[in-house]
Amino acid sequence: MENSEPAEWLALREDDGRAYLLCRAPGEVKVKGLGRFDAEELLRGYSVGDRITVGQKSLTIVAPSLPEARRNMARRAQVIGAKDSGFLISWMGIGVGSRVLEGGHGSGGLAMHLANVMGAGGTLISVESRSEHAEVGRKNMERLSEVLPEFPEWHLVEGDISSVGELVVDKCGMLDAAIIDIAEPWGVIPDIEPLLRAGGRLACYCPTTIQLEKCWEAAEDRGLVVEWAGEMIERRWVKASRGGVRPGNTPIGHTAFLLISAKVASIEEE
Ligand SMILES: C[S@@+](CC[C@H](N)C(=O)[O-])C[C@H]1O[C@@H](n2cnc3c(N)ncnc32)[C@H](O)[C@@H]1O
Repeated sequence: MENSEPAEWLALREDDGRAYLLCRAPGEVKVKGLGRFDAEELLRGYSVGDRITVGQKSLTIVAPSLPEARRNMARRAQVIGAKDSGFLISWMGIGVGSRVLEGGHGSGGLAMHLANVMGAGGTLISVESRSEHAEVGRKNMERLSEVLPEFPEWHLVEGDISSVGELVVDKCGMLDAAIIDIAEPWGVIPDIEPLLRAGGRLACYCPTTIQLEKCWEAAEDRGLVVEWAGEMIERRWVKASRGGVRPGNTPIGHTAFLLISAKVASIEEE
Protein backbone atom coordinates (compact mmCIF):
# COMPACT_ATOMS: atom_id res chain seq x y z
CA MET A 1 0.00 0.00 0.00
CA GLU A 2 1.15 3.52 -0.74
CA ASN A 3 0.47 6.23 1.84
CA SER A 4 -1.54 8.77 -0.20
CA GLU A 5 -2.06 11.25 2.67
CA PRO A 6 0.42 10.33 5.36
CA ALA A 7 -0.13 11.79 8.83
CA GLU A 8 2.57 14.34 9.55
CA TRP A 9 4.82 12.43 11.90
CA LEU A 10 7.89 14.20 13.19
CA ALA A 11 10.68 13.10 15.48
CA LEU A 12 12.27 15.28 18.13
CA ARG A 13 15.84 14.09 18.41
CA GLU A 14 18.23 14.54 21.30
CA ASP A 15 21.86 14.98 20.24
CA ASP A 16 22.74 11.52 21.60
CA GLY A 17 20.24 9.85 19.23
CA ARG A 18 17.29 9.42 21.58
CA ALA A 19 14.16 10.46 19.71
CA TYR A 20 10.49 11.07 20.41
CA LEU A 21 7.83 10.60 17.74
CA LEU A 22 4.88 12.88 17.55
CA CYS A 23 2.15 13.72 15.10
CA ARG A 24 1.49 17.37 14.24
CA ALA A 25 -2.18 17.37 15.20
CA PRO A 26 -4.38 19.35 17.60
CA GLY A 27 -5.15 17.98 21.09
CA GLU A 28 -3.09 17.14 24.14
CA VAL A 29 -0.77 14.14 23.89
CA LYS A 30 1.53 12.50 26.42
CA VAL A 31 4.95 11.63 25.04
CA LYS A 32 7.01 9.45 27.38
CA GLY A 33 10.19 11.32 28.31
CA LEU A 34 8.90 14.70 27.11
CA GLY A 35 5.64 15.22 28.99
CA ARG A 36 2.15 16.40 28.07
CA PHE A 37 1.47 19.06 25.47
CA ASP A 38 -0.55 19.98 22.42
CA ALA A 39 1.79 18.96 19.57
CA GLU A 40 0.29 21.38 17.06
CA GLU A 41 0.76 24.32 19.44
CA LEU A 42 4.25 23.19 20.44
CA LEU A 43 5.39 22.91 16.81
CA ARG A 44 3.70 26.07 15.52
CA GLY A 45 6.27 28.08 13.54
CA TYR A 46 8.81 25.24 13.60
CA SER A 47 9.89 23.06 10.64
CA VAL A 48 12.07 20.03 10.06
CA GLY A 49 15.69 20.99 10.70
CA ASP A 50 14.89 23.52 13.46
CA ARG A 51 16.03 23.21 17.07
CA ILE A 52 13.29 23.34 19.68
CA THR A 53 13.30 23.34 23.49
CA VAL A 54 10.80 21.16 25.34
CA GLY A 55 11.11 21.42 29.13
CA GLN A 56 14.84 21.01 29.85
CA LYS A 57 15.54 19.27 26.56
CA SER A 58 17.04 20.84 23.44
CA LEU A 59 15.99 18.83 20.41
CA THR A 60 16.29 18.80 16.61
CA ILE A 61 13.11 18.33 14.59
CA VAL A 62 13.69 15.61 12.00
CA ALA A 63 11.60 13.58 9.56
CA PRO A 64 11.33 10.17 11.24
CA SER A 65 12.51 6.93 9.68
CA LEU A 66 13.18 3.41 10.94
CA PRO A 67 15.69 4.32 13.71
CA GLU A 68 13.33 6.87 15.28
CA ALA A 69 10.36 4.47 15.02
CA ARG A 70 12.46 1.73 16.67
CA ARG A 71 13.52 4.01 19.51
CA ASN A 72 9.84 4.58 20.24
CA MET A 73 8.51 1.07 19.78
CA ALA A 74 6.66 -0.80 22.52
CA ARG A 75 8.41 -4.04 23.50
CA ARG A 76 7.05 -7.21 24.94
CA ALA A 77 9.09 -10.15 23.59
CA GLN A 78 12.85 -9.96 22.92
CA VAL A 79 13.36 -8.19 19.59
CA ILE A 80 15.80 -8.89 16.76
CA GLY A 81 17.94 -5.76 16.42
CA ALA A 82 19.70 -3.93 13.60
CA LYS A 83 22.84 -6.09 13.81
CA ASP A 84 21.07 -9.33 12.96
CA SER A 85 18.16 -7.92 10.92
CA GLY A 86 20.49 -6.06 8.57
CA PHE A 87 22.61 -9.12 7.99
CA LEU A 88 19.60 -11.40 7.37
CA ILE A 89 18.03 -8.91 4.94
CA SER A 90 21.18 -8.50 2.88
CA TRP A 91 22.29 -12.11 2.90
CA MET A 92 18.80 -13.39 2.03
CA GLY A 93 18.36 -10.87 -0.79
CA ILE A 94 15.22 -9.33 0.72
CA GLY A 95 14.24 -6.05 -0.93
CA VAL A 96 11.64 -4.23 -3.01
CA GLY A 97 8.86 -6.61 -4.05
CA SER A 98 10.00 -9.58 -1.93
CA ARG A 99 7.50 -12.08 -0.56
CA VAL A 100 8.47 -12.86 3.02
CA LEU A 101 7.11 -14.92 5.91
CA GLU A 102 8.29 -14.16 9.45
CA GLY A 103 7.34 -15.47 12.87
CA GLY A 104 7.06 -15.29 15.81
CA HIS A 105 6.25 -11.72 15.17
CA GLY A 106 6.60 -10.76 18.87
CA SER A 107 6.84 -6.98 19.16
CA GLY A 108 7.64 -6.67 15.46
CA GLY A 109 11.36 -5.85 15.78
CA LEU A 110 12.43 -7.86 12.73
CA ALA A 111 9.20 -7.05 10.84
CA MET A 112 9.92 -3.33 11.12
CA HIS A 113 13.33 -3.82 9.51
CA LEU A 114 11.78 -5.99 6.79
CA ALA A 115 8.96 -3.53 6.02
CA ASN A 116 11.51 -0.73 5.71
CA VAL A 117 13.15 -2.32 2.65
CA MET A 118 10.28 -4.13 0.92
CA GLY A 119 8.51 -1.20 -0.72
CA ALA A 120 4.83 -1.04 -1.64
CA GLY A 121 5.23 -4.01 -4.00
CA GLY A 122 6.37 -6.44 -1.29
CA THR A 123 4.24 -8.84 0.72
CA LEU A 124 5.07 -9.54 4.36
CA ILE A 125 3.22 -12.21 6.31
CA SER A 126 3.86 -12.12 10.06
CA VAL A 127 2.67 -14.91 12.35
CA GLU A 128 2.34 -14.71 16.13
CA SER A 129 0.77 -17.32 18.40
CA ARG A 130 0.20 -15.07 21.44
CA SER A 131 -2.46 -12.41 21.01
CA GLU A 132 -0.92 -10.09 23.64
CA HIS A 133 2.35 -10.08 21.66
CA ALA A 134 0.52 -9.67 18.34
CA GLU A 135 -1.26 -6.61 19.72
CA VAL A 136 2.05 -4.90 20.58
CA GLY A 137 3.58 -5.85 17.22
CA ARG A 138 0.54 -4.54 15.36
CA LYS A 139 0.77 -1.14 17.08
CA ASN A 140 4.46 -0.83 16.22
CA MET A 141 3.88 -1.80 12.59
CA GLU A 142 0.85 0.47 12.18
CA ARG A 143 2.83 3.43 13.41
CA LEU A 144 5.74 2.55 11.12
CA SER A 145 3.33 2.38 8.16
CA GLU A 146 2.44 6.03 8.84
CA VAL A 147 6.09 7.05 9.09
CA LEU A 148 7.49 5.31 5.99
CA PRO A 149 6.79 6.65 2.48
CA GLU A 150 6.00 3.12 1.30
CA PHE A 151 4.89 0.04 3.19
CA PRO A 152 4.44 -3.54 1.97
CA GLU A 153 1.16 -5.39 1.88
CA TRP A 154 1.25 -6.70 5.45
CA HIS A 155 -0.76 -9.53 6.98
CA LEU A 156 -0.57 -10.33 10.68
CA VAL A 157 -1.84 -13.83 11.41
CA GLU A 158 -2.60 -14.85 14.98
CA GLY A 159 -1.81 -18.54 15.10
CA ASP A 160 0.86 -21.16 14.62
CA ILE A 161 3.46 -20.60 11.93
CA SER A 162 3.33 -24.27 11.01
CA SER A 163 -0.22 -23.91 9.68
CA VAL A 164 -0.12 -20.86 7.40
CA GLY A 165 0.59 -22.73 4.15
CA GLU A 166 -2.75 -22.05 2.46
CA LEU A 167 -2.76 -18.43 3.49
CA VAL A 168 0.77 -17.89 2.14
CA VAL A 169 -0.15 -19.45 -1.21
CA ASP A 170 -3.31 -17.35 -1.34
CA LYS A 171 -1.61 -14.03 -0.49
CA CYS A 172 1.64 -14.29 -2.45
CA GLY A 173 2.18 -17.70 -4.07
CA MET A 174 5.70 -18.90 -3.31
CA LEU A 175 7.99 -17.24 -0.79
CA ASP A 176 11.34 -15.60 -1.50
CA ALA A 177 12.29 -15.80 2.16
CA ALA A 178 11.13 -17.09 5.53
CA ILE A 179 12.65 -16.17 8.90
CA ILE A 180 11.76 -18.26 11.94
CA ASP A 181 12.25 -16.84 15.43
CA ILE A 182 10.40 -19.19 17.79
CA ALA A 183 11.64 -21.46 20.59
CA GLU A 184 11.82 -24.61 18.43
CA PRO A 185 12.37 -23.47 14.83
CA TRP A 186 13.45 -26.93 13.63
CA GLY A 187 9.94 -28.28 14.29
CA VAL A 188 8.33 -26.05 11.65
CA ILE A 189 10.97 -26.30 8.90
CA PRO A 190 9.11 -29.22 7.22
CA ASP A 191 5.96 -27.04 7.01
CA ILE A 192 7.71 -23.96 5.64
CA GLU A 193 10.21 -25.44 3.19
CA PRO A 194 7.49 -26.41 0.63
CA LEU A 195 6.38 -22.77 0.50
CA LEU A 196 9.75 -21.52 -0.76
CA ARG A 197 10.45 -20.96 -4.44
CA ALA A 198 13.58 -22.57 -5.89
CA GLY A 199 16.45 -20.36 -4.72
CA GLY A 200 14.33 -18.97 -1.89
CA ARG A 201 15.90 -18.84 1.56
CA LEU A 202 14.91 -19.92 5.03
CA ALA A 203 16.62 -18.54 8.14
CA CYS A 204 16.40 -19.55 11.78
CA TYR A 205 17.26 -17.32 14.73
CA CYS A 206 18.68 -19.55 17.45
CA PRO A 207 19.77 -18.25 20.88
CA THR A 208 21.61 -21.52 21.74
CA THR A 209 23.96 -23.92 19.97
CA ILE A 210 21.57 -26.85 20.46
CA GLN A 211 18.88 -24.94 18.58
CA LEU A 212 21.36 -24.14 15.82
CA GLU A 213 22.36 -27.77 15.43
CA LYS A 214 18.78 -29.02 15.38
CA CYS A 215 17.83 -26.41 12.76
CA TRP A 216 20.87 -27.32 10.65
CA GLU A 217 19.85 -30.99 10.65
CA ALA A 218 16.16 -30.26 10.01
CA ALA A 219 17.06 -27.95 7.09
CA GLU A 220 19.32 -30.57 5.49
CA ASP A 221 16.68 -33.28 6.05
CA ARG A 222 14.36 -31.18 3.85
CA GLY A 223 16.99 -30.85 1.12
CA LEU A 224 17.89 -27.25 1.98
CA VAL A 225 21.51 -26.22 1.59
CA VAL A 226 23.00 -24.34 4.53
CA GLU A 227 24.66 -21.23 3.10
CA TRP A 228 25.69 -19.48 6.30
CA ALA A 229 25.67 -20.41 9.97
CA GLY A 230 27.25 -18.47 12.81
CA GLU A 231 26.86 -15.28 14.81
CA MET A 232 27.38 -11.61 14.12
CA ILE A 233 29.70 -9.95 16.60
CA GLU A 234 29.45 -6.22 17.18
CA ARG A 235 32.11 -4.23 19.04
CA ARG A 236 31.52 -0.55 19.61
CA TRP A 237 34.34 1.97 19.94
CA VAL A 238 34.34 5.23 21.90
CA LYS A 239 36.45 8.38 22.05
CA ALA A 240 38.92 8.05 24.90
CA SER A 241 39.04 10.93 27.42
CA ARG A 242 42.77 11.52 26.79
CA GLY A 243 42.47 11.37 23.02
CA GLY A 244 42.21 8.60 20.47
CA VAL A 245 39.49 6.04 19.99
CA ARG A 246 39.30 2.61 21.61
CA PRO A 247 36.85 -0.25 22.15
CA GLY A 248 34.15 0.83 24.62
CA ASN A 249 33.25 -0.90 27.85
CA THR A 250 29.96 -2.23 26.50
CA PRO A 251 30.37 -6.01 26.52
CA ILE A 252 30.18 -7.99 23.31
CA GLY A 253 26.80 -9.53 24.04
CA HIS A 254 25.62 -12.69 22.37
CA THR A 255 22.31 -12.29 20.61
CA ALA A 256 21.81 -15.46 18.61
CA PHE A 257 23.20 -17.90 16.12
CA LEU A 258 21.81 -17.45 12.64
CA LEU A 259 21.31 -20.20 10.12
CA ILE A 260 20.54 -19.31 6.50
CA SER A 261 19.64 -22.07 4.07
CA ALA A 262 18.56 -22.10 0.42
CA LYS A 263 16.19 -24.27 -1.57
CA VAL A 264 17.81 -26.07 -4.50
CA ALA A 265 16.36 -28.48 -7.06
CA SER A 266 16.32 -32.11 -5.98
CA ILE A 267 18.90 -34.45 -7.53
CA GLU A 268 17.58 -36.22 -10.64
CA GLU A 269 16.96 -39.96 -10.22
CA GLU A 270 19.14 -42.11 -12.60
C1 LIG B 1 11.54 -13.89 20.54
S1 LIG B 1 9.92 -13.54 20.11
C2 LIG B 1 9.99 -12.93 18.46
C3 LIG B 1 10.62 -11.59 18.33
C4 LIG B 1 10.49 -10.96 16.96
N1 LIG B 1 11.04 -11.78 15.92
C5 LIG B 1 11.10 -9.58 16.94
O1 LIG B 1 12.12 -9.36 16.26
O2 LIG B 1 10.57 -8.69 17.63
C6 LIG B 1 9.24 -15.14 19.79
C7 LIG B 1 7.76 -15.10 19.53
O3 LIG B 1 7.36 -16.30 18.90
C8 LIG B 1 6.03 -16.58 19.30
N2 LIG B 1 5.81 -17.98 18.95
C9 LIG B 1 6.25 -19.09 19.61
N3 LIG B 1 5.90 -20.21 18.93
C10 LIG B 1 5.21 -19.81 17.84
C11 LIG B 1 4.60 -20.49 16.74
N4 LIG B 1 4.63 -21.82 16.66
N5 LIG B 1 3.98 -19.77 15.77
C12 LIG B 1 3.97 -18.40 15.85
N6 LIG B 1 4.53 -17.70 16.86
C13 LIG B 1 5.16 -18.38 17.83
C14 LIG B 1 6.05 -16.21 20.77
O4 LIG B 1 4.74 -15.98 21.27
C15 LIG B 1 6.92 -14.97 20.79
O5 LIG B 1 6.13 -13.80 20.69
